Amino acid sequence: MSLTEAQAKEKVIVALDVPTRAEALDLVERLYNEVGAFKIGMQLYNAEGPDIVRDIQARGGKVFVDLKFHDIPNTVAEATRVITRRRAAIMTLHAGGGLKMLSAAAASARETAEAMGVEKPLVVAVTVLTSISQQEFEEEIGIKRPIAEQVITWAKMAQQAGLDGVVASPKEIADIRKACGNDFAIITPGIRPLWAAANDQSRIMTPKEAVEAGATYLVIGRPITAQENQVEAARKIVAEIMEANI
Ligand code: C5P
Repeated sequence: MSLTEAQAKEKVIVALDVPTRAEALDLVERLYNEVGAFKIGMQLYNAEGPDIVRDIQARGGKVFVDLKFHDIPNTVAEATRVITRRRAAIMTLHAGGGLKMLSAAAASARETAEAMGVEKPLVVAVTVLTSISQQEFEEEIGIKRPIAEQVITWAKMAQQAGLDGVVASPKEIADIRKACGNDFAIITPGIRPLWAAANDQSRIMTPKEAVEAGATYLVIGRPITAQENQVEAARKIVAEIMEANI
């Protein structure tokens, strides 16, 4: 089976890794018709403030608010309420905050969305950051087991807590899909079409490979944003996703 153009577009999330509101909104205006959502991270959110979410939405874009919350359960639940009220489509927290923190966030998003009569954001967990090496994981963080195993443990814990999915590197997709089933979102960065530069990403997959491995959404930055013709780059990626055999 293959995806329709609308389904393929829905899978593409553009990472707005730019420092200013003007640059971010310029990208949104060009691309809102070509992709499913836009990811804002802590750089843009902290530089421009929460109104950036509203500004993107006003231009027709769905927003993935990637702030990776990690605090005591009550604080994370209240912050999740705020992000839900802002009508984010997706938001993130650290699985390392534990089951109680994840459960509190999941409940808060559900209750807030229900009370407002709006769609709940997908609340997803970040497991082990891909910047962490096995040695750092054991010696600095103090967890003495293979990262790949911990990723699965935390993905299952996120699911048990009522979260909607996880962020994972392309190589982790297949194992998480096996452990957590089909009704669990897997959002993956590290995507590089064959025609794009790898930049600083090392464990990469093409859009087609990632979708075939079981990714629900692809977070794509420079292969779209650093191209001269960003609309054309997005369209090429959507066409590649439509070729995936799933
Ligand atoms: O430009 P590029 O496609 O590499 O952007 C990928 C995006 O995904 C960036 O916003 C980056 O911070 C994010 N990301 C990542 N690897 C992770 C987690 C997030 O590349 N493990």
